[in-house]
Amino acid sequence: MTIETVGVVGCGLMGAGIAEVCATHGLDVTVVEADIAALEAGQHRISKSLARAVSRGKLSDEAVAAAKSRLHFTTDLDEMADRQLVIEAIIEAEGPKVALFKQLDQIVEADDAILASNTSSIPVMKLAMATRRPENVIGIHFFNPVPVMKLVEMVTSLLTSEETAEKAKAFAVGQLGKRAVASQDRAGFVVNALLIPYLLSGIRMLESGFASAEDIDDGMVLGCNHPMGPLALTDLIGLDTTRAVAESLYDEFKEQLYAPPPLLLRMVEAGLLGRKAGRGFYDYH
Ligand SMILES: NC(=O)c1ccc[n+]([C@@H]2O[C@H](COP(=O)([O-])OP(=O)(O)OC[C@H]3O[C@@H](n4cnc5c(N)ncnc54)[C@H](O)[C@@H]3O)[C@@H](O)[C@H]2O)c1
Repeated sequence: MTIETVGVVGCGLMGAGIAEVCATHGLDVTVVEADIAALEAGQHRISKSLARAVSRGKLSDEAVAAAKSRLHFTTDLDEMADRQLVIEAIIEAEGPKVALFKQLDQIVEADDAILASNTSSIPVMKLAMATRRPENVIGIHFFNPVPVMKLVEMVTSLLTSEETAEKAKAFAVGQLGKRAVASQDRAGFVVNALLIPYLLSGIRMLESGFASAEDIDDGMVLGCNHPMGPLALTDLIGLDTTRAVAESLYDEFKEQLYAPPPLLLRMVEAGLLGRKAGRGFYDYH
């Protein structure tokens, strides 16, 4: 069975990218945001990204018009009722995500509809147990920016059915053209369990005065051929999201290497969230 109708909840950095990619791959997409202002910001983010794809020769004007015609925006979660697959991409916080899965369980009608989360670090089981259909719940973890990054992590909980796992993988690989890796349901999955300690080490290095932000990033770009250094990458991910993922990892494993350093905490408290806020370790104004 191919997926034709998708719901995306949350249209921030990731939700916008997921909605865009689903629409450019021919799916009918309904996007839900918390309020009108966030909805308009999300819509704008998708339009900008599609325009960028045209200017880079990746999409034609016709393809963009067709993708836009497949996107529908709303603040009413009830519009998820007829979706075959709903992908949750709201803020990285367990309480709101659990509450949302409880609501989706009440709203989404088809018994075989898949309820997926794009969480970076919250165990899928916690979301699955908020529903009466844990066998239909799975993690489909995309990477930022979604239109560009090939990888998705497919995260099955102990209760995810084989049918759900197969359908979700066929969707990500067969329909969206992504490459999938499978991860067990452990906080951080494969990539963030490795990436987050590295980013936090970069922040600790800056905090201790060991080196400047530019030199830390240049070191990894020029010395290791990384496309960007750890501080620029933290700015791209969002400092709030990085902190939230670090906290989930720390909660799960109780390992010091996952503990967010005070500089990260203070910057989040100050609203210096990285690119999306115009300032993080670097200024984007
Ligand atoms: N930023 C990254 O690089 C990255 C990469 C992979 C996965 N993720 C994961 O994707 C998810 C979203 O992250 P993001 O970076 O897009 O965050 P973001 O802060 O850019 O966007 C979150 C959006 O969710 C909306 N929202 C919050 N509560 C809502 C609700 N109840 N209903 C509808 N919308 C709601 C907010 O208004 C906001 O627009 C998180 O779980 C995060 O861990 C992030």
